Amino acid sequence: MLKVYLLALHSALTDFLASNNISAAQIQEDHQRRVREAETQEINEGNSNSQDDRESEENASESPEQKKKRKRKETATLAKIKQSKEFARRKSRRVGEPDDDDEFIARELMYEKSRPLPGQLEHCEVCGKRFTVTPYSKTGPNGGLLCAKCSKEVANDDKKAKAKKRGPRTGRRQNQSNLLDGLAQQGALSLAEMCTKKVADNINDIEEFGDLPSQLLHRLSQILSKRRALTPRTLNLFLRPDLESIDIYDAAKLEADDFQKIFTFMPTLRHVNLRFAGQMKDGVLEYMLDRDLKIKHLHLDSANLVSDSHWQRLFQKLGPQLESLKLSNLDSSFDDETVGTMSRYCTGLRRLKLKYCWKMGNGSLQAISDLTSLEHLSLSFVQDMDAEKLLELISGVGSNLRTLSLQGFPNADDRLLDAIHTSCQNLTKLRFSGNVVCTDKGFSSMFTGWSNCPLEYVDLSSTRDVDNSNPDGPTEATGLASEGLVALMNHSGFRIQRLDISSCRHVSRAAFEEIFADGKIYPQLKELDVSFHTIMDDYLVGCIFRCCPELKKMIAFACFNVRDAQVPNGVALIGGLKAQNTIIVESTV
Ligand SMILES: *[C@@H]1O[C@H](CO)[C@@H](O)[C@H](O)[C@H]1NC(C)=O
Ligand SMILES: *[C@@H]1O[C@H](CO)[C@@H](O)[C@H](O)[C@H]1NC(C)=O
Ligand SMILES: *[C@@H]1O[C@H](CO)[C@@H](O)[C@H](O)[C@H]1NC(C)=O
Ligand SMILES: *[C@@H]1O[C@H](CO)[C@@H](O)[C@H](O)[C@H]1NC(C)=O
Ligand SMILES: *[C@@H]1O[C@H](CO)[C@@H](O)[C@H](O)[C@H]1NC(C)=O
Repeated sequence: MLKVYLLALHSALTDFLASNNISAAQIQEDHQRRVREAETQEINEGNSNSQDDRESEENASESPEQKKKRKRKETATLAKIKQSKEFARRKSRRVGEPDDDDEFIARELMYEKSRPLPGQLEHCEVCGKRFTVTPYSKTGPNGGLLCAKCSKEVANDDKKAKAKKRGPRTGRRQNQSNLLDGLAQQGALSLAEMCTKKVADNINDIEEFGDLPSQLLHRLSQILSKRRALTPRTLNLFLRPDLESIDIYDAAKLEADDFQKIFTFMPTLRHVNLRFAGQMKDGVLEYMLDRDLKIKHLHLDSANLVSDSHWQRLFQKLGPQLESLKLSNLDSSFDDETVGTMSRYCTGLRRLKLKYCWKMGNGSLQAISDLTSLEHLSLSFVQDMDAEKLLELISGVGSNLRTLSLQGFPNADDRLLDAIHTSCQNLTKLRFSGNVVCTDKGFSSMFTGWSNCPLEYVDLSSTRDVDNSNPDGPTEATGLASEGLVALMNHSGFRIQRLDISSCRHVSRAAFEEIFADGKIYPQLKELDVSFHTIMDDYLVGCIFRCCPELKKMIAFACFNVRDAQVPNGVALIGGLKAQNTIIVESTV
């Protein structure tokens, strides 16, 4: 444990120094250079200090014995130099050049090390003048010393290069990456985040996490997964019998044994989240069934080697205790019959998410309609569904739902919107995207006079007409358009936090001007995606910034008229024409 904290603290300190323009690397480098010099000197021990060594090269009067001894020392020194970082650095700079020979570089370094001591006379490597060596004499391009004048010029060049290098520590790439994550915050990361990152950087040196709090474990799992560093070895760090939850975001490198180990070492697990669990097999499920697991929340992704019969056995055993079930990316099993078993046994389910389960069809929709305890439902279908079955589903489970996400129902029509309007009163999140049939009128009447509480999270992206020969769409707009958006903002505007209307192509400029008119305020809106609204321009973006004081992230890909918008401090504007340049400008207000 101590090790982790020490490591983290050490690293945090390094970062602190760096952020204050004190380079720990520089300090370390200097230190190492001094150590190296001392070592070189030690090798050239005795009275032959480095200087003599160099002169004796041409000393004809030395005995063969002395010569042998000197050669031996020299070979040792050269070998040592070839191991050094400095050697590697210089070598990498020289690759492909005529002087990239190992021996040559090593000798060069050796002579540099044995440079004349201050007080001696030397010829300047650049101008050839004779001068007195001082501690400030610089080394020239070929390893010789430079006179005061030439040293000064080199120093000036160095300074320029350094000044260029300094500046902000994060590069443009990191900046853009942060922006895409919606981080427009300036300044340092929190110490905890910094330490977590450093621990992740050094994961191979860590033997155990000790009693690291579970939220830090969670974060570490995320970082390691992102770096694809979750292996059977690093998994061990997360196996803690005292914890009731495990989240592995990338289990692709784990095999059946590793999955079993999770359930062996953590018998009290209630929350299991394993993504990319491609090597999870029937055997693992059998192992789970043999143990009295207390799992209430099960989230498995890509568990494609599990057969339908084993999914069914899992539901028969664990179904009654399951409160949430999330399964995704299953293409070789999980058919309607299995979904039927699920809905028969998992009667206490409050949260259900089934995404990209390729075998699910109309029968699955029907089965899910019986799960009346559901409060959160998220479905993303691959096959074409019967619109009627979807209506039955909404009228079956709609009244309890607090969140509803429907993707992959391209042909559902306005009757669905009507069913949502009638059945749902308690939704705070609504996603319905990728539909090409529902009309603007349908959306507008769903939001008008709706007894549902205001929505906080709305994603109606890509609800639009797609007819390339008629890019403006039919006169009666298809998808969320002007009327629908006005009605939505009238219904939910004062509570809405995240709004995604990207690719809802038929919203007019007038509608945006009305929604974001002077005096209107959307006090909670933090994230807005208006990508592919070609009507968007600097003026409208300005109106949006004015009406949304809490906005943190605005996505505007393919908004070609957003050119020079003044982006308030702390807002990440993603996309837009000038995405390549700095896109965070100080607020002018
Ligand atoms: C040659 O080497 C000997 C013994 O190592 C030393 O005493 C002498 O000063 C050297 N001569 C020159 C010219 O460096
Ligand atoms: C990165 O972003 C910070 C503010 O977030 C900014 O000060 C800095 O100039 C940016 N760096 C680059 C290279 O764009
Ligand atoms: C579901 O029913 C609809 C209409 O009856 C049909 O077009 C569709 O192919 C069915 N889907 C599956 C996966 O059977
Ligand atoms: C609506 O949701 C709240 C929690 O957000 C819950 O307390 C309440 O019972 C729900 N009402 C209905 C009618 O489901
Ligand atoms: C806005 O909502 C109110 C009720 O909250 C309703 O009376 C009004 O007609 C709505 N206005 C529009 C333009 O939909």
